[in-house]
Amino acid sequence: MENNRPIGVIDSGLGGLSVVMEMIRQLPNEQMIYLGDSERCPYGPRDAEEVRKFTQEMVDFLWIEHDIKMLVIACNTATAFMLEDLRKILPIPVLGVIHPGARAAIKKTTTKQIGVIGTSGTIASQAYEKALHGIDHTVLIKSLACPEFVVLAEKGCFSGEDGQEIVSNVLGTTFQDAGVDTLILGCTHYPLLAPMIQHAVGEHVHLISSGEETAREVSTLLHYHQLERNSRQQPHHFYYTTGSATAFQQLAERWMGAPISVAQVSLQHYVKEQTGLL
Ligand code: DGL
Repeated sequence: MENNRPIGVIDSGLGGLSVVMEMIRQLPNEQMIYLGDSERCPYGPRDAEEVRKFTQEMVDFLWIEHDIKMLVIACNTATAFMLEDLRKILPIPVLGVIHPGARAAIKKTTTKQIGVIGTSGTIASQAYEKALHGIDHTVLIKSLACPEFVVLAEKGCFSGEDGQEIVSNVLGTTFQDAGVDTLILGCTHYPLLAPMIQHAVGEHVHLISSGEETAREVSTLLHYHQLERNSRQQPHHFYYTTGSATAFQQLAERWMGAPISVAQVSLQHYVKEQTGLL
């Protein structure tokens, strides 16, 4: 396989950037192509069929236009509904964010009581329960869907009193005094709200964002499949959104703290009949 091809990363919007930032930090020689489906965000409240269709369109775009060598589904909702299928169909390594997040939580917890917050779709799928119990069947899990959080993140409401009030009201006392010492941010948008979430649950609770562990797994897979980029040229990352490129760029740059190149893309042309991929 050609090593200098990019790694494709997808999410419903901005959230997957939490994973991309870790990938750039841990894999500075790799090129990333990011696609956020901001126009159709949020995915969380949508039914499985719709999430699968949208995810498929994103994958088709990256596959056709960028010939990616690996796919990272940096969206828990899409991971819950599509990871297994995409692994069967695509001839490249495919990674989701749920298993890496679960593993990071198991490493961190000492009380063996783990909280999980995510979109309605992710929580209803029980994908984290399966992943956590697959590693350690003795852990106790407390899950909560927080659909309001993706809306806050996409609006750029990363801090402030209004945001804090919403976050604190949603989380309530669910994870306080419950023995939960580790809370999985089971939606890649939630790291954007991490300071507000931390304030709401208390400093004693470790927040787990799957980005770090996912980037580590990407690194292992690149090495295992001998796919590490060998060009000495600085990689140029590129970002696509199905929504407004200006809005995406402003929020992404504010979060990432660096200038990025963003273009708007329409996914209408990338349907399965054309690629025959899925
Ligand atoms: N960031 C995505 C996730 O991790 C999706 C959020 C959404 O679109 O509802 O689940």
